[in-house]
Amino acid sequence: LLGIEPLHPLEITEILDLADTYAESARAGERPHRPLQGLTQVNMFFENSTRTQASFEIAGKRLGADVMSMAMQTSSVKKGETLIDTAMTLNAMRPDLLVVRHPQSGAVDLLAQKVDCAVLNAGDGRHEHPTQALLDALTIRREKGRLHRLTIAICGDIAHSRVARSNLILLGKMENRVRLVGPPTLMPAGVADLGVEVTDDMEEGLRDADVVMMLRLQRERMDGAFIPSEREYYHRFGLDAAKLTHAKPDAIVMHPGPMNRGVEIDGTLADDINRSVIQEQVEMGVAVRMAAMELLARNRAG
Ligand code: CP
Repeated sequence: LLGIEPLHPLEITEILDLADTYAESARAGERPHRPLQGLTQVNMFFENSTRTQASFEIAGKRLGADVMSMAMQTSSVKKGETLIDTAMTLNAMRPDLLVVRHPQSGAVDLLAQKVDCAVLNAGDGRHEHPTQALLDALTIRREKGRLHRLTIAICGDIAHSRVARSNLILLGKMENRVRLVGPPTLMPAGVADLGVEVTDDMEEGLRDADVVMMLRLQRERMDGAFIPSEREYYHRFGLDAAKLTHAKPDAIVMHPGPMNRGVEIDGTLADDINRSVIQEQVEMGVAVRMAAMELLARNRAG
């Protein structure tokens, strides 16, 4: 699972359907059967993570896998070992599933060409974060009762966001209307060719939206690019209750996390359980990662 791009809408639906059953059984306090029993899952995070790393680890353990999370900070990467040599070394230990996050776009695809096991992209640079888009899709489907013909505003730092990119692809495949909202300096090159509406006006971007998805300002990827002052950014692009009035009255508020409260979103709104589904997104992360790993293992078993 290297990205959303190669997935057919039916494959997306298959993952979401299985994830939904896992989400429901977790809420009912039921323990799932253990389809990954006897399989080894290795997590390699070359970039910081809370939600993705923890949920992949919990997902693997719930399904019975033997899970090892590499401590990359104390690995031989620090002695200069390359990504490919690290991956081939671990591959020789015969893992079944490799979960990889890396700061370079394309690094996970490259690694996948060098190993024999299933590889799951846990976020590569500004390229893709497929399981994030899948958990966002499951959250939307559960909240709105469908995953098509919705108006979805994705707001903020689009240029540096793999979350925006994977969501844009997935939501487009499922025939939704997607709007990108943010300052022109934080829009990717060639945005006009993406076939979506683009605006730097929050009122226009949020008008009649069913879903408002806020993004973090990714300062770690901005090397040299224009970085707005946080105060000015919040004034124009930060989501608060006043700006949200332009969306539909039942619009949901999403954020992939980690959040900068008072920069891209008002803290009170982020915690408002009547509008914000941010904690449900985290909950769906475990279910989606369980489903993705089970389906990959099943396909490989033949
Ligand atoms: N949404 C997300 O990828 O969060 P983490 O960086 O904490 O994994």
